[in-house]
Order: sequence, then C-alpha cells, then structure tokens
Amino acid sequence: MMRLAGKTALITGSARGIGRAFAARYIAEGARVVIADINISAAEATAAELGEGAIALELDVTRQASIDACVAAAVAELGQIDILVNNAAVFTAAPLVEISREDHARAFDINVTGTLFMMQAVARQMIAQGVRGKIINMASQAGRRGEPLVAVYCATKAAVISLTQSAGLNLIEHGINVNAISPGVVDGEHWDGVDAFFAKHENKPLGQKKAEVGAAVPYGRMGRADDLTGMAVFLASSDSDYVVAQTYNVDGGQWMS
Ligand SMILES: NC(=O)c1ccc[n+]([C@@H]2O[C@H](COP(=O)([O-])OP(=O)(O)OC[C@H]3O[C@@H](n4cnc5c(N)ncnc54)[C@H](O)[C@@H]3O)[C@@H](O)[C@H]2O)c1
Repeated sequence: MMRLAGKTALITGSARGIGRAFAARYIAEGARVVIADINISAAEATAAELGEGAIALELDVTRQASIDACVAAAVAELGQIDILVNNAAVFTAAPLVEISREDHARAFDINVTGTLFMMQAVARQMIAQGVRGKIINMASQAGRRGEPLVAVYCATKAAVISLTQSAGLNLIEHGINVNAISPGVVDGEHWDGVDAFFAKHENKPLGQKKAEVGAAVPYGRMGRADDLTGMAVFLASSDSDYVVAQTYNVDGGQWMS
C-alpha cells in the first residue's frame, strides 16, 4: 500500500544525501516532491534522476524572498503542500578558541533561522488552504549533548529540537503536526567532510574517524540515509496524527531520551 498517495512534499536541501533519500522514498510511497536546494543544478539533476513525481526549485533558506518564492512556486506546481521536511543544514566544527562570528552566524542562519521561517511560511500556507499538514525537522544526536569541537553545530541542533517542541504545541491547533528526527552518524558526502575535519584536528588518517564512530554505534555500523526513510514516512503519514512536538532518535541505539 502506498502510504503517501496523493500527497505533496517540499524537502529542503534534498539535492543530495538524506533529503534525496527521503524524496525517493516519498515518491515510491505515491507523493509528488519538490527538491528544493540552494544548489539548483544539483537539485535539477536529482529531480531528473528521480523522474516523474519530482520537481526542482531553487531555495536559499537564509533569504525570506527565496523562501516565499519557493513556497509560492511549489503551491503553483502542486496545488498545496501537505508535508514539509526541514532538512537543509550545514556542519561546522572548530576548537572553541577558534570559532568565528561569521561561521557561527552562518550555521544559525541556515540550521535554525532557516528552519523557523520555512515552518512559518509553509504553516501560513497550510492554514490558509485548510491543509492538516505534517512538518518534519532534521535534528541530530549533536543536539542532545555537546561535543568538544562541535559547539556551534550542536547548539543549532539543540535549537531545532526546541523549535520543534514550541512549533508543535502551537500548530497542532490547526491540525499541523510538527516533529523531528534525530539521526546519529549517517555516511555520505556530509560525513566525508566531517571525517576530513577530524583527520586534521585529531591527526588521523582519512576514514579512521568514520570507522571509529561506526564501531561505537550499538547497531554495529554508521547509518545510511535509507535507515531514516521509514521514520520520515511515518511522520509524514496519517499514522502519526497523534504524535506532537516529539524528536525521534534513529541512530542505531546511540542515544536514549
Ligand atoms: N549525515 C549525518 O551524519 C547527519 C547526522 C545527524 C543529522 N543530520 C542532519 O540531516 C540533514 C541532512 O544531512 P545530510 O548529511 O544529507 O547533509 P548534506 O550536507 O549532504 O546535504 C545538505 C543539503 O542542504 C543544501 N543546503 C545548504 N545550505 C542551504 C541553504 N541555505 N538553502 C537550501 N539548501 C541548502 C545543500 O546544498 C545540500 O544539498 C541535515 O539537517 C543534517 O544536519 C545529518
């Protein structure tokens, strides 16, 4: 049975990685999906690969005009937005004494402010059209506790968990569910960069950090984007109608709360 038949979804940052895997699974479940990304050429290539059911739109979540234009174009193309996934984010890491204001501001602008104002724009649209929609924010185990070299990224993801709680409590009166997914370590291009950072700062050969974090996962390996798609479908479907303001760990057993 297709669990998202007839639904429409807008997934930010879905040109690659986890967002792309969500888009592919949503389409397989019967949805039509907007691949919304700052990298429009990558988004267009992804949409072409995913085939019928996917369209690409340019989106920079740090610019309100871009958010408004993307939401308007998505509604013009698809009629309405039933599902929003706030997936776009950047990773940043540095020893505390080296963190720059610019890096801090950029990470908060994309990961936190972008998530907030995407929720606002899409919730306004859902309310105006009477859509009882689903909003899914991408948090992280990094939002559950600090890490010595990752203060800014951890803080942005803690903020995403907090925003999910407040928005979830506020928007449920309109029949809009807001929840979050908290992945652990998910292999892909994002983690290639993380691995390279730790190779430099912990003097490790490339690939060693990935091997270490994978071995530390109770399940026995790093996650893959496809490990998260089941939760993404559940939170987008009517099966989660009574689930409000929660953040679910999908991390192979790394975190419990
Ligand atoms: N990979 C992991 O181990 C992991 C773990 C926990 C949480 N997460 C979270 O899951 C989500 C997806 O992670 P991923 O590994 O697929 O990331 P990724 O870096 O592979 O993909 C991020 C996408 O966001 C896009 N993007 C960046 N800035 C943007 C902007 N201003 N506006 C619109 N799009 C923008 C990029 O072009 C890219 O396509 C992120 O929120 C990330 O923080 C990832």
